[in-house]
Amino acid sequence: MPVPKHVAIILDGNGRWAKAKGMPRTYGHIQGAKRVEPITKAANELGIKYLSLYAFSTENWNRPKDEVSTLMKLLAKYMKICQKLCLQEGMRARIIGDKSGLPADLLKEATELENATAENTGMCLCICINYGSRDEMLRAMRKMYADVKDPDEITEETFSRYLDTADIPDPDLLIRTSGEQRISNFLLWQLAYTELYFTPVDWPDFTEEELKKAVDSYRHRNRRYGKV
Ligand code: IPE
Ligand code: IPE
Ligand code: MG
Repeated sequence: MPVPKHVAIILDGNGRWAKAKGMPRTYGHIQGAKRVEPITKAANELGIKYLSLYAFSTENWNRPKDEVSTLMKLLAKYMKICQKLCLQEGMRARIIGDKSGLPADLLKEATELENATAENTGMCLCICINYGSRDEMLRAMRKMYADVKDPDEITEETFSRYLDTADIPDPDLLIRTSGEQRISNFLLWQLAYTELYFTPVDWPDFTEEELKKAVDSYRHRNRRYGKV
């Protein structure tokens, strides 16, 4: 099998990683964020065309206030770091999720990142912030309901076009770090036939080598799509 075209990663385990070191959870987020740049570069070098990173879910707002505010500040900072990286590497960035729920400064940095990299043709870095798959599908249904007059017009392709991931192919490989084996409201529609890879490694320890291991595992899979 060729290298996966689209790899999606649930970045998990920052908090537990920090706690195991006797540090506050926010330290785990700071260290975890530092993995974004090297992993993005490594994905690009492997020939991956789309890399989706689940950074903040619609449910993550229910965490303690100080943790949420640290995450929002970190995300705003990484919009700038990602912009520099994307411009260096010829990559474009897309923000996936409900942008209307983002703090103003983060929204501004996110919009700048998308606009500054929109013309690039290299790997697409999809950063999922304030993202929840059920929320995405509801927003898509509302938009579709306003547009579509005849329900028979609605096909899988039509619906896909209303999702935040419009024009992005479904993930070939989903990686989740930290040993948890669940989807946690990530890309429920898009993951229909995605290969799943779970690793016990926490996100702050997820190296380029770990990414290669996941891709190698994918290359030995047999995707049948319901056929024989
Ligand atoms: C992933 O790490 C980062 C986010 C979900 C924002 P966690 O913060 O979920 O860390 P654990 O899973 O509690 O260890
Ligand atoms: C999923 O991780 C969300 C992100 C990685 C952004 P969580 O840590 O929030 O998921 P649960 O609560 O373990 O399912
Ligand atoms: Mg977690």
